[in-house]
Amino acid sequence: MRLLVVIPTYNEADNIEKLIPAVFEHCPLETNILVVDDNSPDGTAAIVERLITENKDRLHILKRSGKQGLAGAYLIAFDWGLSKEYDVFLEMDADFSHNPKYIPEMVNNIQDHDVVIGSRNVKKGGVEGWSFLRNCISKGGSLYSQIILGCPIKDLTGGFNMWTNNAFQKIDLQKIISKGYSFQVEMKYRAWYAGCSVKEIPILFTDRKFGASKMSKKIFFEAFINIWKIKKNAGGDTILDQFIKFFITGGLGTITNLAIFFLCADILKLPEILVSIGCFVIAGTQNYIVNHRWSFTSSTGTSKLSLKKWCLFLGTSLAGLAINIAVMKLMILNFNIPYKFIAQACGIAAGMVVNFMFSKYMVFRNKEAKI
Ligand code: GDD
Ligand code: MN
Repeated sequence: MRLLVVIPTYNEADNIEKLIPAVFEHCPLETNILVVDDNSPDGTAAIVERLITENKDRLHILKRSGKQGLAGAYLIAFDWGLSKEYDVFLEMDADFSHNPKYIPEMVNNIQDHDVVIGSRNVKKGGVEGWSFLRNCISKGGSLYSQIILGCPIKDLTGGFNMWTNNAFQKIDLQKIISKGYSFQVEMKYRAWYAGCSVKEIPILFTDRKFGASKMSKKIFFEAFINIWKIKKNAGGDTILDQFIKFFITGGLGTITNLAIFFLCADILKLPEILVSIGCFVIAGTQNYIVNHRWSFTSSTGTSKLSLKKWCLFLGTSLAGLAINIAVMKLMILNFNIPYKFIAQACGIAAGMVVNFMFSKYMVFRNKEAKI
């Protein structure tokens, strides 16, 4: 296994000199390190170049003309490494926040996974030395990304990650759109979405002792907005797309529902509550199938229809049905409506919103996560 450790640097002169030997010490013998420096004003590159003379053929540097963001730095490093046929890639920060002592365990785990994440948000993982606010931003960011993306990876934002070149192929690096820190989220989401097997191992992240973080308000807001674009770009539907599809599906179900209701309640004069229940089961089954195959396909993937999920769907739809019936009955009782099916239509609309929430967050939650 040939491992390439990629370390992006911007003003890391106080850290890089100690970090490089520490990384070599914890890596398999055939490991190389590639530093990507964005013309750091503090002379980081010159220090690395001096170390290169002592570590010929093991240590390399790519120099860019100015600070151009984390994503670009990693992407040119990966291109470089792929052209030289490395098998495994490790991303890590230059400031000792990512302790090299975790590398052997990551190397072990990469034997049977496509991606290994040094994770702060799993049991025994954590952060040391961050302010309460910085901690909230990071945890909140991970949770926000997790919810929007429907992705079970617990540390989506962290930057201590190991990838096989097979994972890179599945991710399709050409399609990455991030420039800044949302790069980490995008890589992991794309990997998971493409079916890579992902392993999170606990790490204790320690705040840097020297130099300053490059995290800024701009980077933060960019990441906040980018999550939606990342999802769209990977082919995953946003919540709005899902709602529109769910709405159309519900519309089709409603046509079925109303046709049967009109026939039974208005023409055959059967009791409307009983009829409404029958309509619910028939239209509900139709909705379950269409939602599984279409509205929530970014979560259900290629999985088969299941009796259990069908029951769950009908079960959760009961809450919607309760609202449906209540609204319909109240309208019939209180208003002078020429056809009962109009009241039923209003009931369906109210029930739909409730049903959507249940469907999205319970029934069609997300595909089997390989994690
Ligand atoms: N070449 C290059 N270009 N390197 C950069 C750039 C850039 O534009 N911006 C940052 N870096 C380098 C830094 O020098 C450091 O080695 C690493 O990228 C991470 O930057 P930090 O500024 O130390 O990040 P942090 O400690 O605030 O952020 C940590 O948390 C983030 C969110 O959880 C890291 O773990 C990030 O990887 C993580 O995304
Ligand atoms: Mn840092």
